[in-house]
Amino acid sequence: MNHIRTSYRGLRTIPRLIEKKNSFFLKSLPRKNIHPLVINSLQHRCLHLKGRQEKPPSDSISISNTDDASNLQELKKKSKIQYFAKLTQTDDFKKKLTKYLIIIYAIFIYYGLTYMQKLYKKEKELVELEKKLESEGNDKLTLEEQLRLKEWKGELSYKERHQLFQIRYPELSATKGIDSALEAYDTTQFYDSVAEDYDKQINKEERFIGIKSKRKWVMRQATGDVLEVSCGTGRNVPYLKASDIRSITYVDSSLKMIELTRDRFKKKYPNFKNVAFVQRKAEDLVKSNESSQEGAPQMKYDTIVETFGLCSHEDPVNSLKNFAKLLKPNGKIVLLEHGRGDYQFINKILDKRAKPRLEKWGCRWNLDIEELLGESGLKIKKVSRSHFGTTWCITAMRAEDDVNDGNDVPLTEKYWGIKKQ
Ligand SMILES: C[S@@+](CC[C@H](N)C(=O)[O-])C[C@H]1O[C@@H](n2cnc3c(N)ncnc32)[C@H](O)[C@@H]1O
Repeated sequence: MNHIRTSYRGLRTIPRLIEKKNSFFLKSLPRKNIHPLVINSLQHRCLHLKGRQEKPPSDSISISNTDDASNLQELKKKSKIQYFAKLTQTDDFKKKLTKYLIIIYAIFIYYGLTYMQKLYKKEKELVELEKKLESEGNDKLTLEEQLRLKEWKGELSYKERHQLFQIRYPELSATKGIDSALEAYDTTQFYDSVAEDYDKQINKEERFIGIKSKRKWVMRQATGDVLEVSCGTGRNVPYLKASDIRSITYVDSSLKMIELTRDRFKKKYPNFKNVAFVQRKAEDLVKSNESSQEGAPQMKYDTIVETFGLCSHEDPVNSLKNFAKLLKPNGKIVLLEHGRGDYQFINKILDKRAKPRLEKWGCRWNLDIEELLGESGLKIKKVSRSHFGTTWCITAMRAEDDVNDGNDVPLTEKYWGIKKQ
């Protein structure tokens, strides 16, 4: 069998080349590298040039010709790419392509116009609502109008989106709709039951989405007296730099999980003495601390870290409020969490898969993390998001602290003393 080396470009350029020169060129072509179909087409052209035969009907190869059709089928068996290249030259294909292109253009124009119409409607409603707000004040706006205004400005929170949906579609929201917020519950028993297999199960997922570097980022910031909440099996222990810290307190609601942290820590730092392991819910941290050590001053921390914990707390807002109370002035809270993403399509997937996720991992992965922080009164200093916005890396602080704690001095000020006005 001849080795076939034809291509789309080859098919178009070789005949032109030969037309310019003469048919002698055809004879000198290394035939074993050219498909018989091409040779056939070239011979037609050359004969036509010599005036011996009529010009073939078209440049392209028509599959109506039985020879060509069988050649195409032969080619299909040998190489799919070459077959497709040849197919694109057939009249039939070109006709179909024109038809499909027209359909694609029509769809494109339809969606473009719909989008423009939506933009126009949004702009009009926004102007009207702002006018009403200015002349009559916020109290005169109905709840729907207030939410709508926020929606158009892109300031609608997860909870408010629910509210707006319920106002707009009361019948629908009772049955399905976006009412995907799952009931919070105490996950202590759940984590006790999965503790042994937890690492084995989560390793694959974490490797796949590259969580290691994010854990490193969290633990790099752990300095001074550190509190790690929801420590789980101690997955952050390998990234802790013991020389950077004065003490570390591990907290988790599950006894089985925290025991695994203890084993991991003792193995890595057998001589580190300032370490404590506390089985407690984050929501009870402040209360229990106050009641159990009457008169004793409350321990405060320079850094509070938590990775993938808020999603499994019964009351994450209360936990965050406790973090604020447990923080020293200018202390920092470093969080690595998963929650709602930047895109609607992603959030739809998260909502849809929320229940199975809760059953498998004991976490509500569709919470709006920014909203939780806002409700707790904490101030976000830095936030960066990845995986379509579903993985959140946050540095937060108490509301009363200065966001610029001296670490974020602009370069111009640091090196040339030029202060921002
Ligand atoms: C998804 S695991 C994350 C574990 C670990 N931080 C990690 O990054 O792998 C959630 C952990 O939070 C703990 N947890 C759940 N609710 C809690 C609460 N209210 N207070 C403290 N810990 C809690 C669970 O026991 C579990 O160990």
